[in-house]
This record gives sequence, C-alpha cells and structure tokens, in this order.
Amino acid sequence: MAKPFLKWAGGKTQLLDSIEQNIPTEFEHQEFTYVEAFAGSSAVFFWMLKKYPTLKKAILNDINIDLINCYKTIKTNVDELIQILSTWQNEYYQFEDSLDEKKEYYYAKRQLFNAHNSNQTTQSALFIFLNRTCFNGLYRVNKKNEFNVPIGSYKKPQICNQENLLNVSKILQNVELLSGDYQQTLEHVHGKAFFYLDPPYKPLSETSSFTSYAKGDFNDAEQIRLKEFVHKLDQLGHKWILSNSDVKNTNPENNFFDDLYQAFNITRVFAKRSINSNANKRGQLTELLITN
Ligand SMILES: C[S@@+](CC[C@H](N)C(=O)[O-])C[C@H]1O[C@@H](n2cnc3c(N)ncnc32)[C@H](O)[C@@H]1O
Repeated sequence: MAKPFLKWAGGKTQLLDSIEQNIPTEFEHQEFTYVEAFAGSSAVFFWMLKKYPTLKKAILNDINIDLINCYKTIKTNVDELIQILSTWQNEYYQFEDSLDEKKEYYYAKRQLFNAHNSNQTTQSALFIFLNRTCFNGLYRVNKKNEFNVPIGSYKKPQICNQENLLNVSKILQNVELLSGDYQQTLEHVHGKAFFYLDPPYKPLSETSSFTSYAKGDFNDAEQIRLKEFVHKLDQLGHKWILSNSDVKNTNPENNFFDDLYQAFNITRVFAKRSINSNANKRGQLTELLITN
C-alpha cells in the first residue's frame, strides 16, 4: 500500500476518477509499460499500482535530478535514509515550542542541501526533510538553482514515514528511474506503453504563473513540443493521457489547447487545485484531460 512520499504541486489525487474513466480498456487484458514522464510525486503511478497490481514494467521520469535521486535512494538505500530522517525528525520535534530554534535548524538544512556536497543518501534525506517542513511543500529554486522556499508553519510535520518508505522501496525494485527531459522515456520503452503526462501547467494568467519546478520555463513553445511528442506516440501505437490547465477558465475565447489537440479527445473535468491556484477562487476550475 505504498503512497506518494512527497508533497508536490499539481498532485493528481483529485483527477483520479476522470483519469480512470479514460484508461484504455485493452489494458485490462494486455501487458504494457506504464510511463509517467513528469513524475513529481507520482500520484497517478501509486494509484495505478493498486488498480493494476500485476503491472510488470514502469518508468518514472522527471527533469528534477534531486527529485529522481530521492527515488533512487529509496530504491537502493532505504534503511540508511530512514535512519537519517528519523534522527532529524526527533531533533526537529524537540524544538516544538521554539520557532527560533526550528528556523535555525531548517535554514541550516536548506544551506546544506544547496551546497550539494553531501552523499546521495544525505542529499535525498535533505530533499525529503525540506519537502515536509517547508512552506506548503513547495519546490522553488532561484536562477542559481538554489532551493529558496521558507520554513512552513507546521508544528509536528511527519518527516519520516518509515512504513511507507519501506513499501515504496519494495515497489521501486521493478521501476526504471530516469532524470531528464520527458522525450527520453520513449527510448526506454519496448512493446506497448501507456503514458501519463502531467507537464507544468500553462498559467491561467500572467500573474498566476507557476513555472519554477526546476530551471527553465515550460512556455508555449514547450507546450507545442509536447504536443509533437504525443503525436509521435500516437503514430507508434502507444496510448496516453495528458493533463493541463484549461485556459478557458480565465478567457473563454482562448483556444490554445483546443486548437493544439484538435486531432485528439479533450475532456474538461472539475478539479480543485491546491498550491498553484490563485486565479479564480470564486468558482471551481476545470482542467483538461486529453487522450488519443
Ligand atoms: C505538474 S508537475 C507533475 C506532478 C505529478 N503528476 C504529481 O503527481 O506530483 C510537473 C513536473 O514536470 C517536471 N518537468 C518540467 N519540465 C520537464 C521536462 N522537460 N521533462 C520532464 N519533466 C519535466 C517538473 O520537475 C515537475 O515535477
């Protein structure tokens, strides 16, 4: 019963029902590789495993190297990781009533993470520690690729969920982990594959821009490059589901995605956004699920 071990912007828990309705029926009977090319916390992957316990092959990819290194550490060195995280958790809990001490501890860990001179297991522990204790579980870096999110206001955040980390470790034994651009995942696929693609969303307005998952912007040119990629997947006979923001929420005249994906199926689904939502607090937002 493994579940995501990170908080991640754009986690897809609220879209799962709609994703389920769009999973190709042939996958009930056929062997396939599951590919999550913009993994983040891999919410859909963990859910897929429950739905298809016999899933034999999966690939998780993200351009964020520190993030994928966490997965690699959990796969190969989970016991040491747990040891470090539980020590840090105990230390952190001692400062329960002293915000100053908590802050000092948090910012020291952040500095150590940004120095990038720890071994992979410690670096992964730092990533998980910061994710559990920072403001809203945000991941944001500056131009120098330094993590710059301030401390969160949690009293006793769970830093080390030992049972879950062990479950995740078991599951990852059969998973190929890649850190790089989503396009490279195709080179690792043999046979039929089902791709779930959850790129950084196109901002609903200039001011709601949230594109700082890693360096580099996922701008309109990137959205178009992604469309060309899924078009290629379609021609190769693979199946895919892609999610994105619905720019019609803020401008009903905006046909960006409707034009881009006119050859495919576009469904609008209601979804509450979490971290990255500030554009429209009045009504429920729709998001797009696009499939071939
Ligand atoms: C919306 S989030 C995915 C959230 C994920 N579905 C979850 O359950 O947490 C987008 C992810 O795409 C990654 N990313 C951005 N550009 C990428 C690229 N060119 N190739 C692969 N991953 C990329 C970011 O690092 C980020 O983790």
